[in-house]
Amino acid sequence: MTRKKLILDVDTGTDDAVAIMLAALHPALDLVACTTVNGNAPVEYCTDNTLRVLDHIARSDIPVYEGAARPFVRADFPVPRAQNDLAGKIHGKTLPVPPTARRKADAGAVEFLIETYRNATEEITLVPVAPLTNIAAALTLDPKLAERIPEVVIMGGGHEIGNVTPAAEFNIWADPEAAGIVLAAGFRKLTLVPLDATHRALVSYADCQRLRALGTPAGAAAAEFIGHRIEVHDEIQKMAVAGTTPVHDAVCVGSLIDPAIITTRRHHVAVETSGALTVGRTVIDTHFRGGGAPQADVAFDADASRFLKILLETFARKPA
Ligand code: BDR
Ligand code: CA
Repeated sequence: MTRKKLILDVDTGTDDAVAIMLAALHPALDLVACTTVNGNAPVEYCTDNTLRVLDHIARSDIPVYEGAARPFVRADFPVPRAQNDLAGKIHGKTLPVPPTARRKADAGAVEFLIETYRNATEEITLVPVAPLTNIAAALTLDPKLAERIPEVVIMGGGHEIGNVTPAAEFNIWADPEAAGIVLAAGFRKLTLVPLDATHRALVSYADCQRLRALGTPAGAAAAEFIGHRIEVHDEIQKMAVAGTTPVHDAVCVGSLIDPAIITTRRHHVAVETSGALTVGRTVIDTHFRGGGAPQADVAFDADASRFLKILLETFARKPA
């Protein structure tokens, strides 16, 4: 079986951590590298968390390239970083997995992305599950990059749901100018997995027990991260069903393994970069009112049981 190569751009983060473990352990996937970016925590914490998670599941062979420490245009994170809001509480700074002596790669994330796609002899899917700063920077530095990337799957945005503001989802809101550049870059195959889909694949405490019962490092870590997410969601942003949480970034990776995990429709998507109430909103032209050519397959639904099955099967695997 040919394994699907991918690069994950992450701001690790509890749900990024589950996505990384899924990408690193599923036999149909070949995780070439992780690139990190400012987002859930300052980038150096995201890098350290990524290294820790990979070491924890015995995948220290996967390199980690550190990227942008700030948004593409804005001088700082859109608002000063709060540790008491949803993002601050749900991710913290350092994930509860053992420290590692392993270091990030010498090259930076943007340089790595440009060079890797310039020299690629095989297809590598790009999966950004974080603010899009690195990707926008790489596209700006290398005008040919968009045509060199065969497929992009992004976790971000929301049509009916916002999670930072009523209008906006975190990854897009945290660097809206970068998101605008990426969505307008002209990729030939672009999938957007917004909150509308990830909130349909909720994971429960009972599911965490099943993950923990697998008796593997990945099962234990996933149960820990997801259980913590449920506690925080129940406290400050309750889901439709109490005692559950979305695991956004892992849904993106899951859809590479089993495309039926998400259900998509093709639409034009733009990003609002101004407007006090709406900055960071993905404007998804569901009724073809704007005249823009549809450029993204947008996921509006997700299959929770298919998603959980993939998590359980993958995390049951013992490290090689
Ligand atoms: C996205 O924002 C981050 O906090 C998560 O890791 C995920 O990528 C969900 O809005
Ligand atoms: Ca993320």
